[in-house]
Amino acid sequence: MTHRPLIIAPSILASDFARFGEEVRAIDEAGADWIHIDVMDGHFVPNISFGPEVVRAIRPLSAKFFDVHLMIAPADPYLEAFAKAGADLISVHAEAGPHLHRSLQAIRGLGRRAGVALNPATPASAIENVLDDVDLVLVMTVNPGFGGQAFIAPMLEKIARIKAMIGDRPIDIEIDGGVTKDNAAACARAGGNVLVAGSAAFKGGAAAYAGNIAAIRDAAAQARGELV
Ligand code: DX5
Ligand code: ZN
Repeated sequence: MTHRPLIIAPSILASDFARFGEEVRAIDEAGADWIHIDVMDGHFVPNISFGPEVVRAIRPLSAKFFDVHLMIAPADPYLEAFAKAGADLISVHAEAGPHLHRSLQAIRGLGRRAGVALNPATPASAIENVLDDVDLVLVMTVNPGFGGQAFIAPMLEKIARIKAMIGDRPIDIEIDGGVTKDNAAACARAGGNVLVAGSAAFKGGAAAYAGNIAAIRDAAAQARGELV
């Protein structure tokens, strides 16, 4: 099986919104590989966050890969706006609409990488017919809508199942929700290679961010047998 690179993707949902631009710069400088951007509509999930204009506003502040997680339904009418705003990858939820395949092809048609996200209650089998149309599978390990929730440990089995389904395809597996330095090793062992961290990355103020990211990275790297 292929070994995809380890990527740490802090979620700016956990940043201080009153200092949003500074927070994006700080997490970039602290060693984030990707910037995870949680988009919520108050309909698909019970919270509202930010739209494409916010993505556009922060695009000049970081050269890092923008990983846009759409928790919105419908998603299709907004894909182009997020692509133009600077998203490098756009994930849509399998539960968010009846034509998942069309949404994924639309994202690739916009020249962006396509991701499919799964809520905790959705089985791995929901994506078996779209694996040739995705660059990433995002496994939710909390119920989406809020940062700071506890990791749902039984999701590790689902991650391992998805890893096996993917086989040798060049697809990243992203773990999102409640990831900390204490469960990062289990996430990596199960097959996750992109670890999202909101509260665990942004805790303690900007001076702590680099250490927070390094602690998650080191735990996962060690589990992958990569730490020197
Ligand atoms: C939840 C979001 C997650 C969240 C992660 O709906 O998709 O990305 O911000 O935050 P933590 O790491 O605090 O669970
Ligand atoms: Zn997310």
